[in-house]
Amino acid sequence: MTTSRRRLVHRWPVRLTHWLNALAMPCMFMSGWAIYNASPLFPFTFPAWATLGGWLGGAIAWHLAVFWLLLANGLIYLLYGLFSGHFRRDFLPLSPRAIGRDFAAAVRLRLGHHLGTYNAVQRLLYWGVLVLGVLVVLSGLAIWKPVQLQGLAALLGGFDTARYVHFFAMAGIGAFVVVHLALVILVPRTLPPMITGRAHEEVNDESA
Ligand code: HEM
Repeated sequence: MTTSRRRLVHRWPVRLTHWLNALAMPCMFMSGWAIYNASPLFPFTFPAWATLGGWLGGAIAWHLAVFWLLLANGLIYLLYGLFSGHFRRDFLPLSPRAIGRDFAAAVRLRLGHHLGTYNAVQRLLYWGVLVLGVLVVLSGLAIWKPVQLQGLAALLGGFDTARYVHFFAMAGIGAFVVVHLALVILVPRTLPPMITGRAHEEVNDESA
């Protein structure tokens, strides 16, 4: 007989930090774009409707205020992921062969999704966004306090290079978000468990 039960897919620390992060990210992007517009690195600026803060001072205030929230949230997520075994259990193992196999299946839209198990492409994307998250924070700190944190700024190639590092890390995170949202739209049943934590699972009850 087949019965349905509710299985825990995402624990609450992952869900809480994920949704706080998803709320904070747009504020960081939009206030960051307003700061960029005041002194563009490239021959383009972001449209005013996509920015936050109204003027440079307001944008910096938003960027720094939300940064502290994001930093605390990110540290809690990282510590939880490391010490609970979440990263080891759910983000590993990861091999070039598995990435090649799952990527080939994904582009042919033939990649199966098993709730609670990330495929190699997802694992790679999650590791990638974690690295970009660390990089965006370090380069942000370096350009915020280039004198006090001159060692860090030097490590990143100096103030001017750190600005480019910050910009490209932001762009990488933005690309991740676009792909991430596209995958959620393609496989919408992944969304409810990220909110409630649980998913329905059909089980074959052998004893019945
Ligand atoms: C804005 C920046 C975002 C970042 C950086 C991000 C990052 C992540 C990461 C790292 C995970 C893996 C979590 C873990 O198991 O530890 C994840 C999972 C997930 N995220 Fe996001 N996320 C973002 C926004 C969103 C948004 C806006 C949505 C939906 C509207 C969303 C939906 C999901 C879902 C459904 C999963 C679980 C996927 C699955 O079970 O296969 N995320 N996200």
